[in-house]
Amino acid sequence: MADDWATFGADLHLELRGPGLRDGLMNALREAVRGGRLTAGTRLPSSRQLAADLGVARNTVADAYAELVAEGWLTARQGSGTRVARRSAPRPAPRRVRPEGPAAPPRPRPGKPTYNLRPGTPDLASFPRADWLKAARKALTNAPHEAFGYGDPQGRTEMRTVLAEYLARARGVHAAPERIVLCSGFVHGLMLMGQVLKARGVAEVAVESYGLDIHWDLIRRAGIRMPALPTGEHGTRTEELGGIGYADVGAVLMTPAHQFPTGGALQPDRRAAAVDWARAGGGLILEDDYDGEFRYDRQPVGALQGLDPERVVYLGTASKSLAPGLRLAWMVLPEDLVDEVVAAKGKVDWVSSATDQLTFAEFLASGAYDRHVRAMRLRYRRRRDQLVAAVAERSPTTRISGIAAGLHAVLELPEGTEESVLRSAAFQGLALLGINRFRHPDTPRTRDALVVGYGTPPDSAWSGALEALCRVLP
Ligand SMILES: Cc1ncc(COP(=O)(O)O)c(C=O)c1O
Repeated sequence: MADDWATFGADLHLELRGPGLRDGLMNALREAVRGGRLTAGTRLPSSRQLAADLGVARNTVADAYAELVAEGWLTARQGSGTRVARRSAPRPAPRRVRPEGPAAPPRPRPGKPTYNLRPGTPDLASFPRADWLKAARKALTNAPHEAFGYGDPQGRTEMRTVLAEYLARARGVHAAPERIVLCSGFVHGLMLMGQVLKARGVAEVAVESYGLDIHWDLIRRAGIRMPALPTGEHGTRTEELGGIGYADVGAVLMTPAHQFPTGGALQPDRRAAAVDWARAGGGLILEDDYDGEFRYDRQPVGALQGLDPERVVYLGTASKSLAPGLRLAWMVLPEDLVDEVVAAKGKVDWVSSATDQLTFAEFLASGAYDRHVRAMRLRYRRRRDQLVAAVAERSPTTRISGIAAGLHAVLELPEGTEESVLRSAAFQGLALLGINRFRHPDTPRTRDALVVGYGTPPDSAWSGALEALCRVLP
């Protein structure tokens, strides 16, 4: 019975729930496995069969299968088709690919990707545990009793003070402690800005045509529309702000130092155009400086905020430079926004830990942060060079871009091949993402590419991950 796809189709009543067909199918399959209606080892119908049964495109089913293989729900082997994975216990977080742990050497295990080259996460195995612990010990020893209270929603003065000095020195930000609001990750800062902009009557926030859907969702949930500005290798077309289609825009969200995910830096004339637009109409620029510390080939591109601190909201984070699990980030605000943002944060601020802020302040003041960033910059640069060399040797027709900075690179693919490359990577236990995953819904599809997060694997898995990547390239 397990091999009978018709039984599966008829008896399980797969109800496609979710925002799209692919997600709906994935949800339905996960639900069927989680609920025990599809047991381990059950063979699923071929993608062609299930597509016909459900009346959806075959690619939709193939993509859903590949994603569920990557997540560990299904396994796929040549000759024996796609089956429900055998596993001892259900996974607590089925949607996320868990990166390799620090001590675990990469061993193929059914269901779990052996290698992870998805962008977005730094090498977690390199978290400076000893130095962080040392800073935490010192910070807690010296903390006044009041530090353990509810505190100021703006964040601990100790951290804001050292951060102001660091941001001015390392990123060219005009920062004073009283202009800084600490938050729990960039997403928290963006959520607060969404509330404040909405309350100010902003109807539209322009975003880049490639970016992160979780960020767009936050803006949308604040009740704000988000038209997309075209973005390319030389950054985002800020000269279009104020023009046709962008007349109602009150703010623009951008990644000027290193566009995510396409990888370019915003060119000087486009930086100037953004600031001119903001000055002319009272607009705001939300600058997402998520990985500004990691620049390899020339002097770091300074923060756009330096051009006009009264028109730019600078948002920085420790998620790339240290670890996203810390949930530590900061906003440097125009003077007239500070009170509104602090008030918005004060209403819901159950999320920022004062003791972590004190630890970060000590970590930064002691020089450990600069040391860590410098060491990681060397390490990521070495990986980037190895990636470029390996691709040049094994897949000479593949063009790489976006390599001057950050922890990811873009590998162009022949037109129409992105999904099949991703599928074959998933079948081989390599977690990867394509550029179209990051495309704004209003942006037409113009390219196929991989966004390779070379910073993600621990050192022990890096060469294996690189080899696996080269195997799936055309
Ligand atoms: C473009 C971009 N912005 C910001 C962030 C940081 O987000 P957070 O500070 O919420 O972890 C990331 C992390 O992946 C990112 O890719």
